Amino acid sequence: MKLLVCGGAGFIGSNFVRQRVNDHGDEVVVLDALTYAGRPENLEGLGVTLVHGEIQNAEKVAEAIGDGVDAIVNFAAETHVDRSISGPDAFVETNVRGSLVLLEAAREREVKRYVQISTDEVYGSIEEGSFTEESPIVPSSPYSASKAGGDLLVQSYLHTYGLETVIARGSNNYGPYQYPEKLIPLMVLNALHDDKLPVYGDGLNVRNWLYVEDFGRGISHVLGHGAPGEVYNVGGPDESTNIEVVKGILKHTGKDESLIEYVTDRPGHDRRYSLGSEKARALGWSAQVRFEEGLEKTVAWYRDNTAWWEPIRSGEYREYYERHYGRALG
Ligand code: NAD
Ligand code: TYD
Repeated sequence: MKLLVCGGAGFIGSNFVRQRVNDHGDEVVVLDALTYAGRPENLEGLGVTLVHGEIQNAEKVAEAIGDGVDAIVNFAAETHVDRSISGPDAFVETNVRGSLVLLEAAREREVKRYVQISTDEVYGSIEEGSFTEESPIVPSSPYSASKAGGDLLVQSYLHTYGLETVIARGSNNYGPYQYPEKLIPLMVLNALHDDKLPVYGDGLNVRNWLYVEDFGRGISHVLGHGAPGEVYNVGGPDESTNIEVVKGILKHTGKDESLIEYVTDRPGHDRRYSLGSEKARALGWSAQVRFEEGLEKTVAWYRDNTAWWEPIRSGEYREYYERHYGRALG
C-alpha cells in the first residue's frame, strides 16, 4: 500500500510506520508539524518521505497526498491532558480543525480509506466494567473533548459523503519513543536521574495499558479489515493503578520508593479507563504483550537510548517541566 501517515514522527505514529515498512513493505509518506513531540529521528533508516507541515494546511496536505495514496491514517494531534488544561487552543486547532482539513482532502481526492486514531478518553471515566463502542461519548478534559470532536467529524464524512472512514480507539499506550511528559517515560527518566516521582492525587487512578506495538497491529487490522463507518476499541490486556506502575518502574531501575512524591491532583482527573475490545478481536487482533513484560522492555529501552532522550530533557521539556512541576517538587 501507499500510505499517508499524519503525525507519523510522534510516539505511536513512528512505531506504526516502522511496522508498516518492515512487516508490510508499504510505501509511506509522513506529514508532521514536528511540534515538541514530533521527532524526525524516530523515523531514521525507514526510508519514508517526510513532509514538514500542519494537517490544518490544505496545501501541505495536497503536497503530501501527491499523485494519490491508498489510505490516510491520522495520528496527528496534541496529546497531553495536562497541556490541554493549561492551553486548550492548540488542541481544538489540530484535533478538530486539522481533522476536518484532512477529511476534506480525502473526500476531494477520493482516497479509498481514512483511519482516525482516537482514544478511550472520549468515553470519559468508568468506575466498573469496560467501555464498548456503543458507550456514550462523555469526554472530560479539553484533550478528550477535542478528540471526540474530531471523531464526530470523521463519522459525519461517512454519513454525508460516503467517505470510507474507520476509527481506532486505543487505551493508554507505552513503549519506545514516547515523549517523557507522559507517566511511564517521565517516571523512568526521573528514576534514572534520582529525581522525585510526582504522583498525582492518591495514585489510585487506573489506566488500561497497551504496548505500542500491539496498538500498531490493531490499527493494521482496522485499516485492512474494519467495516466502513465503524469504531474499533483497541484496549490493553492489563489494568494498573498509577502507584503500581511507579513501583514497577522503581523495581526495574533498582531505585528506592523514597523517590515517590505525592503532588496536587490534576483538575478533573479521570479515575479509571477500561476498554472492551471484542470487535477488534473479531477482526483477528489480540494483544501480545502483557504489562509486566512491556514495562520491563520499556525501561530497558530508555536505559539503552540516552542519545534519544538527552536532547529532549535539555530542550523545551525542561521549561515545561519546571512550569508544570516546579512548585510541587520544590
Ligand atoms: P505524540 O504527541 O507523541 O505525537 C503527535 C504527533 O503529531 C507528533 O509527531 C506531532 O509533531 C504531530 N502533530 C501535532 N500537531 C500537528 C499538526 N497540527 N499537524 C501535523 N502534525 C502534528 O502522540 P502519540 O502519543 O503518538 O499519539 C498519537 C495519536 O494516538 C493521537 O491522535 C492520540 O490522540 C492517539 N492516542 C494516544 C494514546 C496514548 O496513550 N499516547 C492512546 C490512544 C490514542
Ligand atoms: P498520562 O500519561 O498523562 O496519560 P492520560 O492522562 O492520558 O491517561 O497520565 C497517566 C496517569 O498518570 C494519569 O492518571 C495521570 C497520572 N500522572 C501522574 O500521576 N503523574 C504525572 O507526572 C503524570 C504525567 C501523570
